Amino acid sequence: MEPISKSVVRKDHAPKITGTSIYVDDYANTGVLTGRFLRSKTARARIVSVTVPELPPGYFYVDKDDVPGVNKVHIVMDDTPVFAQDTVEYIGEPIAMVVGPDVRQVEAILAGIRVEYEELEPVLDLRRADTVFFDYEYGRGDLEKAFAEADQVFTEEFSTGYQDQTYLETQGMMAEPEPDGRLFVHGSLQCVYYVHTALMQALGCGPEDVHVLQDVTGGGFGGKEDFPSILGCQVAVAAKKAGAPVRCVFSRREDLEFTPKRHPSLCTYRAAVKDGRVTAMDIEVLFNAGAYTTLSAVVLQRGVICASGVYNIEHLHVHGKALKTNTVPSGAYRGFGAPQTFFAVEMFMDHIAKDLGEDSLEFKEKHLVKQGDKTSTSGIYHFPVPLPDMIEEVNAACDFRRKHKEYALPQTGRFRRGIGMSLYFHGAGFTGSGERDIIKAVCRLAKHADGTVEILAANGEIGQGLRTTFPKIVAKELGLPLEKVRFEHPDTARVPDSGPTVASRSLMIVGELLRRCAVRLRETWVDGEEQMVEEHFKEPDFMIPFYLDKFQGDAYPTYAWGVNAIEVEVDTYTGLTKILGAYGSFDVGTPMDEGIVMGQMEGGFLQGIGYASMESMDYDSRGRIRNNSFSDYLIPTAADVPNLTCMLHVEKYPDGPYGAKGAGELPLVGAPGAYVEAMEQALGGSVRLRHAPFTPEDTMKVIAKEGL
Ligand code: MTE
Ligand code: MOS
Repeated sequence: MEPISKSVVRKDHAPKITGTSIYVDDYANTGVLTGRFLRSKTARARIVSVTVPELPPGYFYVDKDDVPGVNKVHIVMDDTPVFAQDTVEYIGEPIAMVVGPDVRQVEAILAGIRVEYEELEPVLDLRRADTVFFDYEYGRGDLEKAFAEADQVFTEEFSTGYQDQTYLETQGMMAEPEPDGRLFVHGSLQCVYYVHTALMQALGCGPEDVHVLQDVTGGGFGGKEDFPSILGCQVAVAAKKAGAPVRCVFSRREDLEFTPKRHPSLCTYRAAVKDGRVTAMDIEVLFNAGAYTTLSAVVLQRGVICASGVYNIEHLHVHGKALKTNTVPSGAYRGFGAPQTFFAVEMFMDHIAKDLGEDSLEFKEKHLVKQGDKTSTSGIYHFPVPLPDMIEEVNAACDFRRKHKEYALPQTGRFRRGIGMSLYFHGAGFTGSGERDIIKAVCRLAKHADGTVEILAANGEIGQGLRTTFPKIVAKELGLPLEKVRFEHPDTARVPDSGPTVASRSLMIVGELLRRCAVRLRETWVDGEEQMVEEHFKEPDFMIPFYLDKFQGDAYPTYAWGVNAIEVEVDTYTGLTKILGAYGSFDVGTPMDEGIVMGQMEGGFLQGIGYASMESMDYDSRGRIRNNSFSDYLIPTAADVPNLTCMLHVEKYPDGPYGAKGAGELPLVGAPGAYVEAMEQALGGSVRLRHAPFTPEDTMKVIAKEGL
């Protein structure tokens, strides 16, 4: 390991462990008004009228008519209203907010408001959805010829469900008018500048009139990438109207029902096989985007790019659509669309191998990409592809090859075993030309006269360790003790726009910019003086430019790689499954802190196992999310943590700090494929599973059907 990988005590350790961290809900209540929403009770309707009872003094009703600027929240597109305009598009859509000093009174007022709707027919079935928010298509080779010449053609459909981010701290934002006339907006969020940009449009104000701070944030996992812009605009509009601070912190029930989650997916795969090799794939990817576009463009982009997995497929056609339904908008969750398509392609390859009578790992190995090969979008894998070594590491940890063959033989008795393996990558950083054309990251180091150095960057700690790893990089380059490097929570009034805290980009992209800042500061260091250095993002020279319209080029500069194996034992009497072991080899380049990176790998892997095995969420026939508490949306608890073995395989990336690559999302992506493959093996040779999560109820159905 590199010296920088040695673990240190996290900078946020003491305040979080001792409970002194101030989250948005912890600020004093004096003079702060509480906001609660009037939400749509129907999935699709025109609002005919809203009747509001007379309000007691100090209470305010805030709706679309109070938005001083444009009644649209800027995310990627501008279709999400701050407050419903004339229609409502999903159950729970905010129509208005009531604010006031006493929350019980606020709720009483809300209960007395009458909304008259003219009901419209909602679209709830993804297969019947006809509004296409985003549509991407790409391919290469000669599909028709490949299918015409095939020995065999395989077709299958795979689906995945919702997954909620279930961060420990629910969504919460606060807006405070300041004496100088500015509006101060802060809360639990990932991207201060996203919120800042959205506020300028909704408030119709300039960049100086509003500033945004990230408070201590109890986890985001992608769920606080877009949503704080919406809630931020709502509390800001309310604070402007009331002329007082307004805060809104969600209950868990509200958070589970009405905030974005992972897109449910439906993927249809068709493959041509000739001489034992997959020569062509024709793939359709459908994502349920919900009622507004929010982040569906970027989620779908990643999903379609990953659709052919880690395999060399000569003739390829991928067509992806994000479709509108009258349900809560889907958003980002660790992995951004990749877990859905990696699940599908891994299951598909496994099934084809089985039908050909081959061991699926050996079949997958025959198709693996390697350094220098073309990516799905005709970019290039510029750096080594360490999958073969990582497969051997995982095999050594769990005796995969032997067990995989053994469990494939017919099994009898109450307990049946299975083992599955997934091979995958995570493209590091923003997709395509996003860094170069949209983000254009800038960051700074400020050296104070006392010799301390302050990091000025817009990225934030969300549990992934940035508050510690950024200073470690700067301290190392400057030869300073870690205490001398400060990294406060970002406030747009003080930090330049180094981009959002998403896509596992912060450490790799901004971390490297900070390292370069530190090199320059070291070279120009003058004792006792105040100094400032600044760095701007520059795309690495080797990149093949990516064009979104053609969907061609290097979608990512480099890739983090993963190999997961999961071994299960199914109790055919109860339908319950015990995970005997979950093994992962992860290549995220040089770890910037071994403890933090291992925490990321274990935590992410566990989230993936939850996604694969128990996290089941859906909406009812009216379009309302049914699972709005932790008693009916199950996520892994400490008791569900299996024997997790995580290993780091280091393939350094020259353009990342000391060889680091994007780390945060990778560990979630591969679990569903490995788990469901294992379940399928345990349930017997003729069973084919095509859905994640695969829950004990699903297991029971197979047991009953197969008479196990
Ligand atoms: N780890 C913790 N503990 N909490 C989080 O919210 N978010 C994940 C991942 N790891 C998250 C986390 C997601 S969705 C992303 S995109 C990356 O961290 C962000 O990593 P970065 O700071 O390198 O961009
Ligand atoms: Mo992560 S889904 O990019 O916040």
